Amino acid sequence: MFDINKIRADFPILNQKIYNKPFVYFDNGATTQKPQIVIDRMVEIFTKENSNIHRGVHYLSGKMTESYENARAIVKNFINAKYNHEIIFTSGTTGSINALAFSFGEKYISEGDEILISALEHHANIVPWQMLCERKNAILKVIPINDKGEIIFEEYEKLLSDKTKIVAVNHISNSLGTINPIKEIIAKAHEHNIPVLIDGAQSIQHTIIDVQELDCDFFAFSGHKVYGPNGIGVLYGKEKYLEEMPPYQGGGDMVKSVTFEKTIYNRLPFKFEAGTTNYTGAVGLGTAIEYIQSLGIENIANYEAKLLQYANKKLAGIENLTIYGTSEHKASVISFLVNTVHHYDTGMILDKLGIAVRTGTHCTEPIMQRFNIQGTVRASMCFYNTIEEIDLFVEAIIRVKKMFGIS
Ligand code: ALA
Repeated sequence: MFDINKIRADFPILNQKIYNKPFVYFDNGATTQKPQIVIDRMVEIFTKENSNIHRGVHYLSGKMTESYENARAIVKNFINAKYNHEIIFTSGTTGSINALAFSFGEKYISEGDEILISALEHHANIVPWQMLCERKNAILKVIPINDKGEIIFEEYEKLLSDKTKIVAVNHISNSLGTINPIKEIIAKAHEHNIPVLIDGAQSIQHTIIDVQELDCDFFAFSGHKVYGPNGIGVLYGKEKYLEEMPPYQGGGDMVKSVTFEKTIYNRLPFKFEAGTTNYTGAVGLGTAIEYIQSLGIENIANYEAKLLQYANKKLAGIENLTIYGTSEHKASVISFLVNTVHHYDTGMILDKLGIAVRTGTHCTEPIMQRFNIQGTVRASMCFYNTIEEIDLFVEAIIRVKKMFGIS
């Protein structure tokens, strides 16, 4: 069902040596590699199809527009949105959340209102809300997490109030791997008629997303984290909100008519897509989604769960290694420190052994503050990784320990 050798052959970048060692790519949380079919599609666009969308009367412009709108339909089906026009193309998750914070903020936030995020958030789901709070004199509230790196649900319930105007939480923590109970989080917020944004940057590639079933009001993700190109992302929003919210950027394509006295905005989704969008990226994203659909997200999730289980078992046998993020519900992300060895030193040694990991705060400084550490080493795995690679990774950690004289 899941032929790993065949899958790996789809990703040409994996088939190389780094420092003459087999290349082990465990930095999928930062960005994912691209299958040949996506690379080919991008080459095809630039060699045969490129033309600006929605503007030309000529053949290629029409063809490119069709491909772009088809990509929107692919995304819509992938996350099971109700309408194509609920899919807004942006530059990525960060672009999506910034757009939402501005646009939602303009419409719905006034002085003294509260915005609720969690202590597990990436900076991209903190800073845009802080900026909004500064603009509007609103208040940012934070749901605390426990020592396992899980949202404390009772504290969340306590923080919801008449003043809360939006809840914005991630689905999966990029630095700890925690899978949040978003269905329950959304349902609880809805009891108070509060809309919810789910930052899906780290979940869209690992698990089935059905925005109607979740009943989330907004959902954001990036193309490059789901095996597509970078510079493209998606903001899903329920029609009722998107209709009411003002555009966050002005320019071409987002207008129906312009005079010096008044501009009438275009309909959804174009109202939120000013200027020349990353239409080639959108098409590449569509191809990437079709690729992972051909593998089956459930198959991907099952395989990745096995990788995580194996890695956890092997790492449990290593003394003086601390894992941060020990929730029962976890994605294939392992954040750790080897005794007192600086995360950067461990990362550098792993790199010289051909293993790519991320080190540092992972754009989640408040999580590091919560655990009183400066950073971690993060291994983030996905469906093209293997058990053999985990063995190499574990051997490399043992080598780090030896180099630093740690038992
Ligand atoms: N947000 C990305 C990560 O977690 C860049 O590495």
